[in-house]
Amino acid sequence: MPELASVNGVVTPIEEATVPIEDRGYQFGDAVYEVIASYGGRLLAFEAHLQRLTRSMKALAFAPMPLDSLRGAVVGLFERAEIARAAVYLQVSRGVAPRNHAYGAAMDPQIVITVREVVEKPAELRERGAAVITVPDERWQRCDIKTVQLVPNAMAKQKALDAGAFDAIFISREGEVREGTSSNLFAVRDGCLITHPLTPNILPGITRRLVLDICRRERLTVEERIFLEDDLFAADEVFLCGTITEVLPVAAVDGQPIGDGGAGAITKRLYDGLLALAVGTG
Ligand SMILES: Cc1ncc(COP(=O)(O)O)c(C=O)c1O
Repeated sequence: MPELASVNGVVTPIEEATVPIEDRGYQFGDAVYEVIASYGGRLLAFEAHLQRLTRSMKALAFAPMPLDSLRGAVVGLFERAEIARAAVYLQVSRGVAPRNHAYGAAMDPQIVITVREVVEKPAELRERGAAVITVPDERWQRCDIKTVQLVPNAMAKQKALDAGAFDAIFISREGEVREGTSSNLFAVRDGCLITHPLTPNILPGITRRLVLDICRRERLTVEERIFLEDDLFAADEVFLCGTITEVLPVAAVDGQPIGDGGAGAITKRLYDGLLALAVGTG
């Protein structure tokens, strides 16, 4: 079960893969990406990830790329790696060119794919829930585009770990709850789920969408609306959701316990629903 990389179709072990130093992804963060998870050898919501990647490329005015070749490249590497529970990373940069802020004429996008084994989260974290901290959202105003410009996310995540927490939640200047560093967030109050609406301030998470689909199927009430940090503290349940995060209960925010501190009933139900979808029984 080798962990493999592909750079424009050249397949090597991950440690041996390299990109040219004038790749615009490397010098300008001028690249978009997706992370897709597999369960039992099956990629979850692969088409939705490809659609979002296309949207991101369009938003950055990348040269159009046939989806079939991307799809084939991902499936080819995934099958070759033979890792049943994998995280497939797919990155497309605008291309390689002499360093210049302006990108001018369309260039050939550079495609990097890696396939790695997923390290599962400890069962205790899933059962007891994660501690998170809040941080000011200092990111740019197009967080809906999934670019590799992740320094604010990386710094916020490190700040959380340094504080003994699992993750950080971005809060706007107005006190609005946005999302985690690599996840979306839901709060539950009196049986109703609340999550930030799709605006340029958050990533349109694929897992968020899957969770909303499950809610609809299970007739749970959901409000996609702006809500404030204070609403978070008053919630009965809070959870993060993302491709690698799955559905993860939040036990405390800035040291204040949420609900009774463990995974709430609705969070558990949605986690089970997501896993059922992932393994093809949902
Ligand atoms: C900032 C941010 N929000 C939300 C998500 C969750 O998105 P998805 O469910 O598509 O993984 C991610 C995933 O990496 C992310 O980076």
